[in-house]
Amino acid sequence: MSLFSRHVILEKNSLLLTVAILIVVSIGGLVEIAPLFYISSTIEKVDGMRPYTPLELTGRNIYIREGCYLCHSQMIRPLRDEAERYGHYSLAAESMYDHPFQWGSKRTGPDLARVGGKYSDAWHVAHLTDPRAVVPESVMPPYKFLKDNLLDGRTIAEDLKANKIVGVPYTEDEIKNARADLFAQLSEDSDDYEAFIKRYPGANVRDFDGDPEHATEMDALIAYLQMLGTLVDFSTYQADADENLR
Ligand code: HEC
Repeated sequence: MSLFSRHVILEKNSLLLTVAILIVVSIGGLVEIAPLFYISSTIEKVDGMRPYTPLELTGRNIYIREGCYLCHSQMIRPLRDEAERYGHYSLAAESMYDHPFQWGSKRTGPDLARVGGKYSDAWHVAHLTDPRAVVPESVMPPYKFLKDNLLDGRTIAEDLKANKIVGVPYTEDEIKNARADLFAQLSEDSDDYEAFIKRYPGANVRDFDGDPEHATEMDALIAYLQMLGTLVDFSTYQADADENLR
């Protein structure tokens, strides 16, 4: 009896075939999953990563609420064309504080993982208000109303708490002062500025939407966009894998 004719036994017995399929598929699963239990961490530690400031987190919530992820990814793949267009490929650590992550699966617009610092705040205001005013061929919808929506910070402490529950290391101090920190990021002259910048060193502090009188959703979204991809300093960053290659 050849090997192939013995296969008939499996083909004629559905229960046996099911068991055989389970065995074969589980080998694939084991090969993929088992190694994860033997390495200490799947996310390498990278200098510069910090939890989002309350204003950035608010901007991120608006990004999710408005469905920006339906047209924009936040994941630069380690392929040459992507790295040349967008910058250094995304590191696992760069989305470690994202719950849920914003890698996305569709690029109607460009990847935004490193859009921080690429344009001025005024460009973002003009673009979000009317994308076609700055990019005539754009199919992006306008988000003009963000300028009229004032921030009240009523839920920000709860937002930080919820993120803490899923693993973002916000301290009690940061949660307690979340609301003050939300507004402190909008001006270096505010009373809470010193305490804020101690909690979030290096954060961008300024009025983002060109209207210093009001704290708006436009401020929050632009604060978020201008931070994206800027936390890790790639002039000093060296990947472990690169080291192994040398
Ligand atoms: C219907 C799809 C669509 C949606 C939804 C969308 N965008 Fe866009 N976006 C685009 C397209 C297309 C471009 C490229 C043309 C342009 O610059 O307007 C773009 C460009 C951009 C750029 C400039 C990127 C660069 O590197 O030049 C930013 C920033 C941006 N979008 C932010 C957002 C934000 C924030 C939201 C949610 C509030 C959003 N987009 C929602 C389609 C979309």
